[in-house]
Amino acid sequence: MRVSKRIEGLPPYLFVRISQKIAEKRARGERVISFAIGDPDLPTPEHIIDRLCREARDPANHRYPETYGLPEFRVAIAEWYRRRFGVVLDPDTEVLPLIGSKEGIGHVALCFIDPGDIALVPDPAYPVYSVSTMFAGGESYFLPLTEDNGFLPDLDRIPADVCGRAKMLWLNYPNNPTAAVAGLDFFERVVDFAMRHDVVVCHDAPYTEVAFDGYEPVSFMQVPGAKEVGLEFHSLSKSFNMTGWRVGMAVGNAEMRDALMRIKSNLDSGIPQAIQYAAIQALQGDQDCIRESNSVYERRRDAIVPVLSEMGLRVKSPKASLYIWAGIPDGYTSAEFASALLEETGVVVTPGTGYGKCGEGYVRVSLTAPDADIEEGLARLSAWRGSRS
Ligand SMILES: Cc1ncc(COP(=O)(O)O)c(C=O)c1O
Repeated sequence: MRVSKRIEGLPPYLFVRISQKIAEKRARGERVISFAIGDPDLPTPEHIIDRLCREARDPANHRYPETYGLPEFRVAIAEWYRRRFGVVLDPDTEVLPLIGSKEGIGHVALCFIDPGDIALVPDPAYPVYSVSTMFAGGESYFLPLTEDNGFLPDLDRIPADVCGRAKMLWLNYPNNPTAAVAGLDFFERVVDFAMRHDVVVCHDAPYTEVAFDGYEPVSFMQVPGAKEVGLEFHSLSKSFNMTGWRVGMAVGNAEMRDALMRIKSNLDSGIPQAIQYAAIQALQGDQDCIRESNSVYERRRDAIVPVLSEMGLRVKSPKASLYIWAGIPDGYTSAEFASALLEETGVVVTPGTGYGKCGEGYVRVSLTAPDADIEEGLARLSAWRGSRS
């Protein structure tokens, strides 16, 4: 059997590789502490699960859902955007439910990229932006995110010929993996760039609800003109601890939303309806659960940052996202540093290069490990630091 060039050209999905390493160690009886994956350990709030259970018993929800989602789910998404960001959306034309935002992010390149086209993709970044570009036959032109530019891409440095071939621009704030945040002034510059060069903007925003110290991340859709040039991908995964339920949404430009719907309607049959009702419950229900989760992450962040600093890592306390992006000490590559930690302490962090070349010199530490693991992990890291000083 010969698999397609598409498959051959695919790097192994980073987290699959990490999971395999963890599984090998666990099979040898070692206790591994993982700070690697951004998957909330906190449970989905009760009121959301109750609704799911109730709806699962209704035979009307046992049949094929529609790709474009239940009308009441689209209304709930539009209302949530209005309450949270002051953004007005037409639930019929500007909102599309997704089977988790990853699904939409993966498919949207098929809407705008033809062979030979360019997608502008940040580096480091969530790997799906460049992989989906490759699946569509396009090329990624990487935009370095560095400490000097606050991990925001410098759009003025993109060569004119690249702008000419570019069809899409990917952005993600609050950012994975750097934890950087963007303000409305940056998004205004993005709209101007997109209009001048006729590129569509895809803003991936699953972390807008995970924020600390009173900080409230903004939506790309808040800036004038955003709806003319872009879609925003959002998700219930991180806001409501619902990664396992697979439910998210794309909102914004009606033509872009329609193009994505046309691709999806040929590939999937939508989100199980009981899950859509659970998502409605999440969006319409008490939002205190978000504050409660964030206070847990904030407490963890405040415990982890000083230990990393004492280990000689360069760390800024993040304002948002589930991650700490830490500059590693000289003398290691990120892969070597992550590997040394895993071998010598059994603690897993993600090497920055898993997110692109510009991730060299960094590791990503996630705040989603259970408290007991964090305590144990930090004790091991402190002891490791002690043994080397
Ligand atoms: C930046 C970013 N985008 C999208 C996703 C996908 O989220 P989901 O498919 O669960 O909505 C993730 C998950 O970790 C992410 O970090």
